[in-house]
Amino acid sequence: MKDSKKIIIIGASSGIGKEVALLYAKRGDKVGITGRREHLLLDIKSQYPTNIFTSCFDVMGPDNITSIERLIQEMGGLDLLIFNSGYSDASKELRWETEHTTIKTNVVGMVEIINYAFNYFSKKGWGQIAITSSIAAIRGNSFAPAYSASKAFISNYAEGLQIKAGRLKKDITVTDIKAGFINTKETPIKGRFWIASSHKAARQIVQGIDKKKRVLYVTKRWQLIAIIMAVFPFRILKRIV
Ligand SMILES: NC(=O)c1ccc[n+]([C@@H]2O[C@H](COP(=O)([O-])OP(=O)(O)OC[C@H]3O[C@@H](n4cnc5c(N)ncnc54)[C@H](OP(=O)(O)O)[C@@H]3O)[C@@H](O)[C@H]2O)c1
Repeated sequence: MKDSKKIIIIGASSGIGKEVALLYAKRGDKVGITGRREHLLLDIKSQYPTNIFTSCFDVMGPDNITSIERLIQEMGGLDLLIFNSGYSDASKELRWETEHTTIKTNVVGMVEIINYAFNYFSKKGWGQIAITSSIAAIRGNSFAPAYSASKAFISNYAEGLQIKAGRLKKDITVTDIKAGFINTKETPIKGRFWIASSHKAARQIVQGIDKKKRVLYVTKRWQLIAIIMAVFPFRILKRIV
């Protein structure tokens, strides 16, 4: 049997994060799950009461690091931290509130937590980090400009930290999870294609992190879209997004 891991998933009260947490708990890992909706966290914990630990906080608030330190203490260490919290909303009228919440959640909250995890693993000598980005990171988008830009920041940041780990000669893997359409809402948005279930996405995420992938397309077929989008001429792109 594999050694059990100590894992924290930031943003695991629903959707992809919840499914990933359940897969890890099922195989015997200790999993710290976070989010703002405490009742959902407690529901998930009730399925694996001894393996799952909960912490309720808002990544836009002041308690990120103290809450994570408390979880690490409860679990007796940390081997893998996944930052999965994300805010996305259309910003047709370019509302500052939408842009600001997007940046505070996906960029500022993420950087604070990932900084902490990277330095924690640096001191320890090894560890794993994964961050949920998106296929939306690849190009600009007029409907949700801050969202796609925040995901581009995440992917770029993950790559930078992976290079930094190499320079510091630390055994730290940083996985950039580039997710395509995943069915996590009760009513999927019309016009979407290749929508995977959150369970399938979670299975591929766990497998990819086990394999210490640097970039992980979820589901795998979205790598094709990523390649096409990267070279898509702007004059066509502007008619679509
Ligand atoms: N579904 C897709 O098609 C898709 C595609 C590409 C990328 N993604 C990314 O995948 C990740 C998970 O999304 P999902 O689809 O599974 O949506 P979801 O079910 O809404 O999950 C989002 C998670 O993030 C947490 N969260 C959001 N804002 C937070 C905050 N301010 N503080 C703390 N936790 C916060 C939520 O917990 P609380 O609400 O309880 O705080 C929840 O656990 C996101 O980063 C998203 O951008 C999703």
